[in-house]
Amino acid sequence: MRIATEATETGGSAPPVVVKVWDPFVRLFHWSLVGLFALAYATGDEIEQLHIAAGYAIAVLVAARIVWGFVGPRHARFADFVRPPREVFADLRELVTGTSQRRLGHTPAGAAMILTLIVTVGGSCVTGYLMTTDAYWGARWVEQLHAALAHLTVALIALHVAGVILVSFTHRENLAKAMLTGEKREAAQPLSGESPPD
Ligand code: HEM
Ligand code: HEM
Repeated sequence: MRIATEATETGGSAPPVVVKVWDPFVRLFHWSLVGLFALAYATGDEIEQLHIAAGYAIAVLVAARIVWGFVGPRHARFADFVRPPREVFADLRELVTGTSQRRLGHTPAGAAMILTLIVTVGGSCVTGYLMTTDAYWGARWVEQLHAALAHLTVALIALHVAGVILVSFTHRENLAKAMLTGEKREAAQPLSGESPPD
C-alpha cells in the first residue's frame, strides 16, 4: 500500500513517501515471539506449567510463520529474502565497511540470522516437547540439548539486535520502529549518500 505525501501548505518540505513492508501477521508474530521467548527463558528452571504453555505458544507461532513464508505477501515470503551464502557473506562484508545496500525487505545477512533463529527456537520447542514424552522423559542428552539451544538462541538474539542497530544507523532508518508500524521509506527515496534503491 502506498501512502501519499502531502506537501505542507505552509511551504515546508514534504514528508517522505512510505510503503507498507511488514504485514500485520509478521509484526504480531515478531513481538509475540519476543515476549513469549522471554517468558519461556525466564521460567525454564521453575514454573513448569507456564514454561510449557509459553513453549507451545511459540511452537504454534513458528509453525504459522513458516506457512506464511510460502503464502504470505511479498516481503514475508522466504523466496523474497533467503539468499545463497555468497550473498550473505558479501552483505556482511558491506555491513562492516558501511557500504551495505538498503533493501525494503530483509537483508541477506539479516535473513540468514532469521532462519537460524527459527531453527534454534523450533529446536527448543521440539526438545522441550520430547522431555515431556515417555520415551525421552529424564534423558540427560535431551535436557542438555534443550538448555544448550535456549542459551545459544539468547546469544544469537544479541547478534540479531546488534545487526538491527547497525543497519538502522547505516541507512538512517529505525528498523525496530518499522517492525512496529510496518512502514518503511519508499525505495525510490534514498537519503543523501545512500546507495541506489533496490
Ligand atoms: C527487543 C529485541 C528485538 C528487536 C529490537 C528486534 C528487531 C527486529 C527487526 C527490526 C526485524 C526486521 C529486520 C529487518 O528489517 O530486516 C526483526 C526480524 C525478526 N526477528 Fe527480531 N528483534 C528483537 C528480538 C527478537 C527475538 C527475541 C527473536 C526470537 C526469539 C527475534 C526473531 C526475529 C525473527 C524470526 C524475525 C523475522 C521476522 C519475519 O520476517 O517474520 N527477534 N527483528
Ligand atoms: C523457545 C522455547 C523454549 C525455551 C527458550 C526453553 C528454555 C528452557 C530453559 C532455559 C530450561 C532450563 C534448562 C536448564 O535446566 O538449564 C528449560 C527447561 C525445560 N523445558 Fe523448556 N524451553 C522452551 C520450550 C519448551 C517446550 C515447548 C517444552 C514442552 C513442551 C519445554 C519443556 C521444558 C521442561 C519439561 C524443562 C525442565 C523443567 C524442569 O525440570 O524444571 N520447553 N527450558
